[in-house]
Amino acid sequence: TSAQIGVTGLAVMGRNLARNFARNGYTVALHNRTAAKTRALVEEFGDEGEFIATETAKDFVAALERPRRLVIMVKAGEPTDAVIKEFAPLMEPGDMIIDGGNAHFADTRRRERELREQDIHFVGTGVSGGEEGALLGPSIMPGGSPESYASLGPMLEKISAKAEDGAPCVTHVGPDGAGHFVKMVHNGIEYADMQLIAEAYQLLRDVAGYSPAQIADIFRTWNTGRLDSYLIEITAEVLKHVDAATGKPFVDVVQDQAEQKGTGRWTVQIALDLGVPVSGIAEAVFARSLSGHTELRAASKDLAGPTARPLGEAEAGAFADQVEQALYASKIVSYTQGFHEVAAGSEEYGWDIDLGAVAAIWRGGCIIRAAFLDRIRAAYDTRADLPSLLSDKTFAQEIGAAQDDWRAVLVAATRQGVPTPGFSAALAYYDALRADRLPAALTQGQRDFFGAHTYRRTDREGSFHTLWGADRSEVQA
Ligand code: 6PG
Repeated sequence: TSAQIGVTGLAVMGRNLARNFARNGYTVALHNRTAAKTRALVEEFGDEGEFIATETAKDFVAALERPRRLVIMVKAGEPTDAVIKEFAPLMEPGDMIIDGGNAHFADTRRRERELREQDIHFVGTGVSGGEEGALLGPSIMPGGSPESYASLGPMLEKISAKAEDGAPCVTHVGPDGAGHFVKMVHNGIEYADMQLIAEAYQLLRDVAGYSPAQIADIFRTWNTGRLDSYLIEITAEVLKHVDAATGKPFVDVVQDQAEQKGTGRWTVQIALDLGVPVSGIAEAVFARSLSGHTELRAASKDLAGPTARPLGEAEAGAFADQVEQALYASKIVSYTQGFHEVAAGSEEYGWDIDLGAVAAIWRGGCIIRAAFLDRIRAAYDTRADLPSLLSDKTFAQEIGAAQDDWRAVLVAATRQGVPTPGFSAALAYYDALRADRLPAALTQGQRDFFGAHTYRRTDREGSFHTLWGADRSEVQA
């Protein structure tokens, strides 16, 4: 017998993905750099389905039916290139190499181009949902050729998460690096979501005076409404958790320095290159990095702050409702920014990404899964060329209704000295987009003054320069 799919790299994500394929009736060839992991998987989970354990690269490739479907689940970067170098020479035209790691899409584009010369389909694939998702159904974002999706798609649809309407959370995102690009932006949005939730938590704690357990209950309530999402749900779990060793809230015994592996940072770096304002995502990345600057924080301990006065019990409940509004409004903005980046990437690289389909496959399985994403899908279904999520009538109306409370929350935060970079950046974005006139006109004037960089006028075509150092008359540039 031969395997319909093979997985190499059997750390937790690879192992669970392999089991997921097997549990869905596929015969799965297994390979790992150290064979002990392969044996352990078969020993522990061999009864879940059909596995073919192999030790050498040659045996692994030989175990696969043709065209071969070989999934690599190793660390992004060098290790991925090393594995490709090992397997590609053993493969034949028409075979597929599927990279399910968190690769940078530019690497994926390069690898796809290189392997295409050998007629091998390289399918950079975003996989989201953590360990549990990989096993029970992740959200899957494959790029690569349409031919490869024709062969792989049905299998991915089978192992993927299903949205509430039963639709599989996988689609052919677009050619070459499109899948990994979309996964990158997913992670950027994940960072923003997490930061906004963190700010809501801190406001409820420091301004409203709630305890972590009380805040867990508030989040639980929010999770039954329009904020219904995996991240809100697990936030309540984390906040409720009590440290066994000390009896203190778990959140109080964890060091307050957030780490990151890089996908959020990439989202911002690429947005800068594409000229897309993703200020909310950027603030989320910066907030993590600031938290880690312990020396800087220690050196700033004595900086003056306002005299904080927590709200009384009577006001706290109403404030919590306002925080919900601020959180929801800011969330609309970060998704607006994220989808703008996907649209810009699609345009830049000619991927023709269907934004509604992206929203649809994020409804289940992935870390940012939320009821909200079905609304985004609906917005793009109504109008595929929506210039911005904020131009969707429903979202515009909702954010408009939330804005007074959103501002009130930021007033309170500012008065009390609680940092809210995510909420604030989101509101600034909203207000800037709404503005009739931006001070960018003044910026243009300054640029023309010191560097003769020219400006355009509101009333006439063409570029102009004012002779600032002479009689200040205007000349056509
Ligand atoms: C997912 C996640 C995952 C990511 C972790 C950790 O979609 O399953 O995005 O891919 O690796 O969330 O990311 P950081 O370590 O950068 O926080």
